[in-house]
Amino acid sequence: MNMRIRPRRLRYGETLRKMVRETRVDPSSLIYPMFVKEGTGIVEEIPTMPGQYRYSIDTMERKLEELLDAGVSSVMFFGIPDHKDEVGSGAYAEDGIVQRAVRLARREFPEMYLITDVCMCEYTSHGHCGVLCGHDVDNDATLKLLAKSALSHVQAGADMVAPSDMMDGRVAAIRDILDENGYKNTPIMSYAVKYASAFYGPFRDAAGSAPAFGDRKSYQMDYHNSREGIKEALLDVQEGADIIMVKPAMSYLDMVAKIKEAVQVPVASYSVSGEYAMIKAGAKLGYIDEEKIICETAASAFRAGCDIYLTYFAKEIAQYMQEGKIG
Ligand code: PBG
Repeated sequence: MNMRIRPRRLRYGETLRKMVRETRVDPSSLIYPMFVKEGTGIVEEIPTMPGQYRYSIDTMERKLEELLDAGVSSVMFFGIPDHKDEVGSGAYAEDGIVQRAVRLARREFPEMYLITDVCMCEYTSHGHCGVLCGHDVDNDATLKLLAKSALSHVQAGADMVAPSDMMDGRVAAIRDILDENGYKNTPIMSYAVKYASAFYGPFRDAAGSAPAFGDRKSYQMDYHNSREGIKEALLDVQEGADIIMVKPAMSYLDMVAKIKEAVQVPVASYSVSGEYAMIKAGAKLGYIDEEKIICETAASAFRAGCDIYLTYFAKEIAQYMQEGKIG
């Protein structure tokens, strides 16, 4: 056969394959999401996310040490309060669960980069991501509470805030309040391209944040839409978002690739609880090879264009990176 161009030529041997590799990864792009709750001595496994736990503030320290040892130096906190009410007051309480977790982590782990999720759903008695007006989430009234929450996180020592509520105008509201209070250099990572997704199911079990009625489709996006995601991303960049996130990751990598073209800021993708749960369940049944699937899904997110990857497998991926199994 006379064939000059043979793509297989570059596939012989690990050395050559690594030389021509297009996607190179590094643990510095990983963020580990973790759940903190009230109480002491708690390390509670989340039934739908085997291997993931809810920690009280005292036990959280051990986990943070473990992450640092593994090479993961960024975490994102989700709070699980004891008390929920109509207006989610725990979200912006000075001694709220996230605020206290951040204060402690800031003091004990100065080298760790601390990000907080800014949302109301873990703190409202109805489980929606904002305050209600009848059965609707009141967008503009919610903005004030989100801004207050973000400010309280930063005052407690958070390095970055990440609003996940999907209200219109929240990035601007948060940017304004941070600037007015002298936090001009605190970045905002916006969950800008966030779809109404069944992949969040296990998270809602973990955080007890499932909506008591209805669904989130009046604020999170319809998964049939792609141009709408670009609209959200561009709007948030205009409002001052420093990083744009696409969520979920696995079924939305087309959006990662499109957003990467559309904006000039770093792009993050969040491999959510349902993605984690599927891999764990498939592996437990012996249907798939857990380690290989973790490496492949992570590499595909980076290949699609993400600069930052939020994942419950952060520790494992950091380890696989160091062992040369990925990247
Ligand atoms: C809060 C929030 C959710 C997730 C991150 N922030 C749940 C939701 O929107 O219902 C999901 C994360 C995951 O599934 O791992 N709004």
